[in-house]
Amino acid sequence: PHGGAPLASRGQPAGVFERRYSLAPTSDGGMEEHILSLVKKIVPPLSGHKHKGQDGRIGIIGGCQDYTGAPYFAAISALKVGADLSHVFCTKDAAAVIKSYSPELIVHPVLDSPNAVEEIEKWLPRLHSLVVGPGLGREDFLLKTAKVIEKSKARDIPIVIDADGLWLVTKQPSVIQGYQKGIITPNFMEFTRLDTFHGVLQLSETMGNITVLLKGEKDLIADGSTVVTCSTEGSGRRCGGQGDLLSGSAGVLAHWAHTASQAGLITGVNPSMVAAMGASSLTRQCNKQAFQQHGRSTTTSDMIHEIGPVFKNLFER
Ligand SMILES: *[C@@H]1O[C@H](CO)[C@@H](O)[C@H](O)[C@H]1NC(C)=O
Repeated sequence: PHGGAPLASRGQPAGVFERRYSLAPTSDGGMEEHILSLVKKIVPPLSGHKHKGQDGRIGIIGGCQDYTGAPYFAAISALKVGADLSHVFCTKDAAAVIKSYSPELIVHPVLDSPNAVEEIEKWLPRLHSLVVGPGLGREDFLLKTAKVIEKSKARDIPIVIDADGLWLVTKQPSVIQGYQKGIITPNFMEFTRLDTFHGVLQLSETMGNITVLLKGEKDLIADGSTVVTCSTEGSGRRCGGQGDLLSGSAGVLAHWAHTASQAGLITGVNPSMVAAMGASSLTRQCNKQAFQQHGRSTTTSDMIHEIGPVFKNLFER
């Protein structure tokens, strides 16, 4: 069962999660509000004095012959949230397709090259965060991706792992375990594949307290010591690609949150948690507003159209 109370206590052995989870809603909603108020503090002010790239250069690892929509949605969402540049690292045959969707993305056809890791590594010094998994597929790119994640960790770059990237995590948890700038975003279905763990808090603890954003009717965000519900209302409509909007925006927000944390602008809360909460709230509100206009025919593109006004309403007032 889900939709219960926001939780705010330590992880404990199996069973406890379910028990706590069934408690009636408590006043812990204050935690959610608090974290959402911190999102406002991480948003970099728009000023004329910056040079291009300062608000974030985001890398998306994913995109193969069968899946070109997912990396596009993640990359364009990152731009719409406010990143300066979105890079997509995909296979050769996906690259032309993704470019044809948008001239605004930088697309690197490297994922199926024998030097994929080196090709991506070259760009890492210029990237502020990485989103791994949208449209990645489950071919041998996965093994290369693990190496890219290792290199990114060494550079201390925030990493969001979603979709097929989570498959990698189930096979090789150590790839992201304990990395405090890591966020994984399973949905309930992917979650059951991670079912050696009980509950989202335990999953987080088992993963070395990384931030877990569990997508569902209500999203749950855990970081090993805390679980918070994002209760921003969505709609009954789920469309393919919605998760990519979430992961792309989480990529940008993670960069902003860690930058703000280093500058002392937010304290006392895990920056990854702030990023995850912001992305969750934004995605759900985009879903709601798109649904109000398009109802059953709502698609992810409709949601992406809402990012600008929704972001402004949620985080810039
Ligand atoms: C995770 O957090 C819990 C609670 O704060 C702590 O007891 C535990 O040692 C942490 N684990 C790791 C790997 O940091």
